[in-house]
Amino acid sequence: MLSDPWEELCLKLRYQLKPYGYCGHLLQLLESKVHHLEDMIKRTALMSESNSVLIIGPRGSGKSALLEHVIDKSFESKLVKGNMLYVSLNGLIHTNDNLALTDIARQLKLNEIEDRPSGSFSEKLRILLSTLKSGTQATKSVLFVIDNFDLFCTHKNQTLLYNLFDVAQSQQTPICVVGMCSRPDVLQILENRVNSRFSHQKILLFQEITFEEYFEAAKTFLCLKKFSDKKFLNKWNAEVDNLLKDPSVKNILERRFNCSNTMRDLKELLALVVQNLKCSYPKLTAKDFERAYDQCCADSKSDLLLGLSLLEITLIIAMMHLTNIYDGEPFNFEIVYNEVSKYWSKRNWSIEKPVAMKAFEHLLELELVKPCHDSSSDVLKRFMPVRLLVDIDQVKETVEKYQNLPVSLKRWIESSIDV
Ligand SMILES: Nc1ncnc2c1ncn2[C@@H]1O[C@H](COP(=O)(O)OP(=O)(O)O)[C@@H](O)[C@H]1O
Ligand SMILES: [Mg+2]
Repeated sequence: MLSDPWEELCLKLRYQLKPYGYCGHLLQLLESKVHHLEDMIKRTALMSESNSVLIIGPRGSGKSALLEHVIDKSFESKLVKGNMLYVSLNGLIHTNDNLALTDIARQLKLNEIEDRPSGSFSEKLRILLSTLKSGTQATKSVLFVIDNFDLFCTHKNQTLLYNLFDVAQSQQTPICVVGMCSRPDVLQILENRVNSRFSHQKILLFQEITFEEYFEAAKTFLCLKKFSDKKFLNKWNAEVDNLLKDPSVKNILERRFNCSNTMRDLKELLALVVQNLKCSYPKLTAKDFERAYDQCCADSKSDLLLGLSLLEITLIIAMMHLTNIYDGEPFNFEIVYNEVSKYWSKRNWSIEKPVAMKAFEHLLELELVKPCHDSSSDVLKRFMPVRLLVDIDQVKETVEKYQNLPVSLKRWIESSIDV
């Protein structure tokens, strides 16, 4: 037990707001999927029934959270724990079947393979398969979890997937293969022979959640259930409850929800909200939400604009002008230079074309300006049709923050908006 309740609070919140995997809560709407998956794993562990399933959903949709929760829940049972081995694979780590096989051997403690690290792939596969196939219904079952499953499909001949699904289908040693991926078309990239051995069971996580559910989730992520100091816990939960009633806080959550409704992004926001919490800063306020929202939704393009030179900003403003005049149609450097020259000539300034061209090239490099066609084509750079990728609001926002920007430039922006 930690002596300082604030320390304990921060530790618990950090766990609850972890951006990946299971963190102690699952939304109600996943309940039926939890039962489905749990049933499948238990059938393998207790009834020696082999199975295979794919969990498909976008990143941050709760695939890992769902699976980790089900595994925790299933392995709470002593019978399951005593009957089942667990192997975890990840397409990002196991970039070929040989690496995956070596890791399976390590996790299953298959000494025969571990003792010959330099053995060939086919030799290792033969040993693994003979071990798996020599099992009977009474042998311990194995749960194979394959994260980033789609990356395994890029392995040569999809050998490992084929063999795992084959073992599952032939019902020798009971195994359960659970794949997770974010590609909805994953079945189409499976080879026919692999596809025919897959059970075609899928758990899809493409639910739309309502703002009310999202709002409730935010409350659950910030409130605590277990805490050593009950009085402190009640006070904290009541404070969170109160804070969420604040219309400005609700408004920020609504804005976040409208941009992205995944739990991962909600947690990212809340983690920023609580980041300063400590004994000397003991209260959350609506200001923390505002700061977190600004941090979370920082516009990288506006930041890029702030780092530009005066000449580059001038070119951007001219292009903003042209985008307006041309109604979004592309323009080229010559046209931009012409437009800027008009502005300069009124003030008796001038800048040489090559200097302006250098600035223009920098904007291209930063991708604030984008060529409409393949930039490697033969068109001379100054005649290359381009479009501006920054909008008026972003330029306006930057100009307000940009230090020492000449007043005439500011006026020029305003005039362009009126066009
Ligand atoms: N239905 C849900 N209920 C509660 N938390 C969720 C839910 N879905 C996702 N999360 C949370 O969102 C974050 C991302 O989830 P994760 O399972 O890692 O996504 P995925 O594996 O699909 O990329 C995790 O912190 C997870 O706890
Ligand atoms: Mg995941």
